[in-house]
Amino acid sequence: MEQDIRVDIKENYIKKLDDSLLSILLKDHSSGSNIIWATDNYAQKGFDYASYEPITIKAITGRHGNVIKPRVGKSKKEQLHRVKDKAEVFTPSWICNSQNNLVDNAWFGRDNVFNTETEKSWTTNTERIVFPQGKSWQDYVKANRMEISCGEAPYLCSRYDTVSGEWIELNDRIGILDRKIRVINENTETKEDWLIWVQEAYKATYGFEWQGDSLLIARENLLFTFIDYYQGKFDEMPTNELLQDMAKIISWNIFQMDGLKFVIPNSCKPVPKMQQSFFDMIDGTKDETEPCPGCEKGDNKKHSGIYCKIMDWQKKKPIRFIDLTENK
Ligand SMILES: C[S@@+](CC[C@H](N)C(=O)[O-])C[C@H]1O[C@@H](n2cnc3c(N)ncnc32)[C@H](O)[C@@H]1O
Repeated sequence: MEQDIRVDIKENYIKKLDDSLLSILLKDHSSGSNIIWATDNYAQKGFDYASYEPITIKAITGRHGNVIKPRVGKSKKEQLHRVKDKAEVFTPSWICNSQNNLVDNAWFGRDNVFNTETEKSWTTNTERIVFPQGKSWQDYVKANRMEISCGEAPYLCSRYDTVSGEWIELNDRIGILDRKIRVINENTETKEDWLIWVQEAYKATYGFEWQGDSLLIARENLLFTFIDYYQGKFDEMPTNELLQDMAKIISWNIFQMDGLKFVIPNSCKPVPKMQQSFFDMIDGTKDETEPCPGCEKGDNKKHSGIYCKIMDWQKKKPIRFIDLTENK
C-alpha cells in the first residue's frame, strides 16, 4: 500500500520549505551536536549511519530522502527487529485517547470532556469546552504534560494512527497538544493571542525517546501539527520565521534520553581510575580506566555520560532533567 504522504513527512519537503528547519529539528541541546541514530537499524548504509553517529541533513535528504520512515512504513523485518531491540510497540489512537481521557477526567472532575469513547474509536464532542470552578482555559493550556518513551509521540499529537497509519482529521484529534490547541481555538479572538497561547501549549508539552529516527519523526509530527492547525485557522501557511520559532521550542521539549539513566543513550564511557595501586602504576599493561560508576553501581547521579537538558521556559534557563526527578 502506498504510504500516505501526509503521514510520512518527507525530509526533502521540509528542506525545501525552509533550509534551516531540519538543522533545528536535528539539534540536541544536551550535547550541542545533533541527535544520534541510537539504533543499529541503518548501520549497513555506511559510517554516517552508525548507532553513535549524529543524524545529519545529508544522511536523510537528497537521494537519502526516504531513509526516515514512520513505523507503519517500515518493513515487517525492521519492525520485528525494533520490537526485540527496544520494545518498540506503538499504541493505537483509540487507546491513546482513552488514556488521555483519564487524565482529563481527573483534571476536569467529569467524563467525556473532549469526546465520547466508542468501541475502539471515539466521537468528538463539538460543544465548547466548559471549565470547572477555579480552573481556567489558560490553566489547562499551561499544565505541563510529558509522554515518556514517546516513539512518534502519539499521545502528544495524533495526525495519524501510529499502528494503522490512518490519517485523523483535525477536528477528531485526541493528543494532549491537540486538546490544548482546541481549547485555544475556542477561547482566543486574534491571531496574535492565538499564537501566544499556542506557543505556551508547545512549551508545556514534553517527550523523550531513545531512538533518533523516531525522535525526529516525533519532532516533525509536532511541527506539522502546528502547520495543520495554523492552516485550519487562518487558511494560509505560517511564515518561515514562525516555523523556526516553533521548531526551536520543539527541539528543546522533545529530546533524546535514556529514560532509565537520564543521559544521552549510550553516552556513558569508562572513566580514569581514581586510585591505582603502586603495582598497577608500574605495570603499564594494566587498564587505567574503570566502567562508568553510575552504570556500575546503578546510581543515576554518577553517570559519566551526557546528562540531558531541558528548558525551564519560565526562567528561560536550561536545567538538567535529572534535577527534576525525586530519586536524584
Ligand atoms: C512501547 S514503545 C511506545 C512508543 C509510544 N509512546 C507509543 O505509545 O506508541 C516504547 C518506546 O520506548 C523507547 N525506549 C525503549 N527504552 C527506552 C529508554 N531506556 N529510554 C527512552 N526510551 C526508550 C523505544 O525506542 C520505543 O520507541
